Amino acid sequence: MRDAVLHINRGALQHNLQRVRDLMPGSRVLAMVKADAYGHGALLVAEALAADGFGVAFLEEALALRAAGIRQPVTLLEGVFSAEEMAEVVRHQFTLVVHQDLQLRLLEAVPAATPVDVWLKIDTGMHRLGFAPEQVPDAYRRLQALPGVRSVGLITHFASADEPGSAQTLHQLETFRALQQSLQAETGNAVPDSLANSAAILAWPQAQGSWVRPGIMLYGCSPFADRSAESLGLRPVMTLRSRLIAVRELKAGEAVGYGASWVAPQDTRIGVVAVGYGDGYPRHAVSGTPVLVNGVRVPLAGRVSMDMITVDLGSLPAEVGDPCVLWGEGLSADEVAACAGTISYELFCRLTARVERETL
Ligand SMILES: Cc1ncc(COP(=O)(O)O)c(C=O)c1O
Repeated sequence: MRDAVLHINRGALQHNLQRVRDLMPGSRVLAMVKADAYGHGALLVAEALAADGFGVAFLEEALALRAAGIRQPVTLLEGVFSAEEMAEVVRHQFTLVVHQDLQLRLLEAVPAATPVDVWLKIDTGMHRLGFAPEQVPDAYRRLQALPGVRSVGLITHFASADEPGSAQTLHQLETFRALQQSLQAETGNAVPDSLANSAAILAWPQAQGSWVRPGIMLYGCSPFADRSAESLGLRPVMTLRSRLIAVRELKAGEAVGYGASWVAPQDTRIGVVAVGYGDGYPRHAVSGTPVLVNGVRVPLAGRVSMDMITVDLGSLPAEVGDPCVLWGEGLSADEVAACAGTISYELFCRLTARVERETL
């Protein structure tokens, strides 16, 4: 049996959801489980989390949740792109994000007997998906008039909510609230709203809405470069573990691994850990990236291989079979990601199928 294993901690997941609820009381929580729940296993997460709904990127991800018996509302963040996809949305009563005219036209064919809930996406400044602010009133009225549409909310996404006080975020908020207020004045009804990702939930209380959309914070990581997950009251959900498969003596001046990029400054011992980029450990992690061996931090030494990494054990007592943690409990994935020039989101999404998942 290969030693690289992913432990998923349901208790930590539930704790992090409670953090969201404490920060945004009264909001419903659309838990982001796209990309296989950021590599944690979408079904496992959906079953473990008493969220009010789940967010996925596209139809196949939603269908997989329904096929496995998940009954909560499932929202397709990218919407649909054909009549066939729309028929599936209607059949399974998925919620749709509508971000372009094509999708509005597809909704015209939905029968009044089986209406769907939609979010009208406003491009308040991220310039990725959504209707431009000046197009929103017309799109909103068209959606409201469709027999196949049950409810219309307004949704937007922040580009820089992780930057405290960001002028862009303030501008996005202002644009969104102005449109929401004018549509509320026009219709005389409250218009449901959804703005906040993890960074906004943690740092922008004014972004609270009927629904919030946490992703990374549910998985116990920080959306901020300069604030640790622990300081935000979050607990790591995923721990990537492996074991030492060899311990080698190295003389000062001897190099380790491909390209001989790391040279022992003095006589030392090298531990070989059974994990590599073939498992999803980032190949760009630099020498010095922390690894826990027997619970003690030691530095990565040399390049990451497909199946193995090497660490400088120094004088740490260690032998073959000893446990190692690559990230998770005791070692923040955010810190490891930074050592590889990336973010925890990417570490999680890049784990490969050969890493076995175990639930705690
Ligand atoms: C539209 C939308 N909302 C919410 C999220 C969740 O973001 P985060 O994981 O930073 O909380 C994402 C993730 O990319 C997203 O695309």
